[in-house]
Parts: sequence; C-alpha cells; structure tokens
Amino acid sequence: MPNIDNPTGKTLAQLGVTRPDQVSPFFADLRVTFDANLALVHEETEWKMLRDRWLARKSGVLTLITDNWLKPASPDLKRAVGAGLNELRSHVESQIESRRAAIETGADQSALTRDRIDLSLPGVTRPIGSHHLIRQVFQEIEDIFFSIGFSVVEGPEIETPYYNFEALNIPEFHPVRDDMDTFYLDLPKGAPSPLLLRTHTSPMQIRTMEKQKPPVRVIVPGKVYRRDNPDATHSFIFHQVEGLAVDTDITFCDFTGTIEYFVKQFFGPGVKTRFRPSYFPFTEPSVEFDVTCIFCGGTGTAAGGGVCSKCKGAGWIELFGAGMVDPAVYGFVNYDAKKVSGFAFGMGIDRLAMLKYQIDDIQVFFQNDVRFLKQFP
Ligand code: DAH
Repeated sequence: MPNIDNPTGKTLAQLGVTRPDQVSPFFADLRVTFDANLALVHEETEWKMLRDRWLARKSGVLTLITDNWLKPASPDLKRAVGAGLNELRSHVESQIESRRAAIETGADQSALTRDRIDLSLPGVTRPIGSHHLIRQVFQEIEDIFFSIGFSVVEGPEIETPYYNFEALNIPEFHPVRDDMDTFYLDLPKGAPSPLLLRTHTSPMQIRTMEKQKPPVRVIVPGKVYRRDNPDATHSFIFHQVEGLAVDTDITFCDFTGTIEYFVKQFFGPGVKTRFRPSYFPFTEPSVEFDVTCIFCGGTGTAAGGGVCSKCKGAGWIELFGAGMVDPAVYGFVNYDAKKVSGFAFGMGIDRLAMLKYQIDDIQVFFQNDVRFLKQFP
C-alpha cells in the first residue's frame, strides 16, 4: 500500500500547512491513494484490511486525520480540514460499503454456479419393491377367511412351554415334543419360566380363548421355528397359518365344509379334498387334509406319461393337519367342554406356496435372491 501514514501521522504544522488553501491537495492525494487501494480489493480478507486501514477507530486513516490534523488545527484551518475530512469520509465509507456488497453477491454468484443443478442429468431411480411371495400368500389366505367371518390375530414368537405345549394337551415327556425339537433361549439363572421360539402357531389358540369367550373365529399367520436341517423341504424357520373356530354348535360338517371352501378358493374349483385320520394331542378326532395333485390333476400320471413326480403317482398331496378341538384343551382356558365345540387347523404356508406356485426348494423363500423375488411382483 502506498505511503499514506506519513502525512496523517503528522500535524499540519509539521507538514508546513499554514493557509486553508494548502489543505485540499492533501485530501486529494489521500483520495487517490484510497482509490488505488480499493482497486486492489477483490475478496473478503482484502476488503477487511482496507476497511481497517481506513476506518479503524483507533488508528484508521480517518481517525489519524481527526487526531493529528483537525484537533490541533488553528481555527482558520479547522474549517478547511473539517470539510475535506467529511468529503473524504463519505467517499471512503460509501466505496467500502459498495465493494462489500459486490464481493458478497459475487460470492453468492459463484456458489450458485458451483451448486447449480444440472437438470439434463438422468435422475436417481428408486425401484419400487413388492411383497415377498410368502406375504402375498398370507394375504390370499387372510382374504379367503375374512370372507367367511374369520379375523386375524398375531402372537409372540417367543413362547413359554405352557402355551407352546402344556395348554395344548402336550405334557412334558409326551413323544410329539420330539417332532418339535426346538430352540430354547439361554436365560439367566432364576428366570421364572423357560422360553422357546414357538414351534407352531397353535399357542395362539390358547391365548385367544383365554382372552375371548365363544364364538371365536380367528386365523393366526406367523413365523415358527424348529431345529430342522435345511433341505429342499425343511427350514429352521417357516410360516404357518393357524385357524380356530369355537362356538356352541360347531360340527364336523362345518369343519370339513370350511376347509373344502378354503382349498377350492386357494387352488381353484377343480381340486378335490379328502381327509385321513391322524393324531394331534390338541384335536380329537384329528385329520390330515389332502388335495388332489395340482401337477397331474389327480391322475398320478405326469404330462409326458410316467409317474407324476410330485405326488409319486398317488394323485393326492398332503396339505395340513386339523381336527375338532380336544375337550381337554377347553379345560385350560375355562371353556365349558359340555357346551362348546370347535375345530382347528394348522397349515404350512411355505408348503402351500410351493405347491401353488410350483417352487421346488423352500430355501428360495429365505435367500431373497431378487431374480426369484422379481418373478412374483
Ligand atoms: N400345530 C401343528 C403342527 O405344527 C399343526 C396343527 C395340526 C395345528 C392340527 C392345528 C391342528 O390347529 O388342529 O404340526
């Protein structure tokens, strides 16, 4: 910066100024100096230096003029100094302010250019997902049962042995527990009850009847767990829909009629159903429902001749277990076994989905390979 301190650091007397007409050239010089300084200012830090040099309260040029020129000036010089100072001040202040504004909008401009959105670029595509096939099958099943007056309830996946077994008439050491060999939770010593991942959705029969007096018509979709080794038809986690209907006058005919209605809605009107005697501790009598093979139409013969590999020539495929609720179960939920009757069923959803959509490996439901999922939009 040019040497501007020199004149303003001295008094007028030291500068040899004695007449008013000698004052204005000094101000004219200062203005030229200021304008030269200003021309070099392009960004904020430079601007701040300029402002401080000229306007700082303590030692800015204008303060120095006031202190060194104006205050000690003789009365006849004061006027000329005051006028020159005022003019210089308003020039300096207005120029500094307009440069500030220019720098600011310049910065805004360059930020705008930097951040400008390029509308010609392709956008980010966010593909819309779809429901997993298992979820879709749950919904199909729920819709069918809604249409005949059932409602949906859901329950805990972590259960007590009481709900998972005992209240379903499966006492400790009952051999059917072996089929349900399962995962128990590692609990701290002194925990009030052992806990396990439920092996079926049947515990919700008990929980529902504990809460609700008959009539009961519910289905229970959900996940269940068993210690099975994974293969094409087994997984340690799978899905079931439990069903329960209890009222004062439910008969075996209501039971088979309901199941048949469901199966025809789900697989199509062409299929036939049959039931075979079976055993479950919580139903009496217990049955296993079969449906005519959807692959060979129940003939047992594959399309190109030969034995149908799906039903192994039987023409029938085993679907799920069911039965009339065993009166012993009512004892656990304070229902009067003499007054009420009902039926229950438990279907494996993965199995139903595999049959309906011709999927031959249960593992694909859990691998979440998009190539598989995409086939069921
Ligand atoms: N809970 C049984 C299982 O997972 C299935 C079942 C059979 C449920 C008969 C029922 C039923 O409600 O009545 O193997």
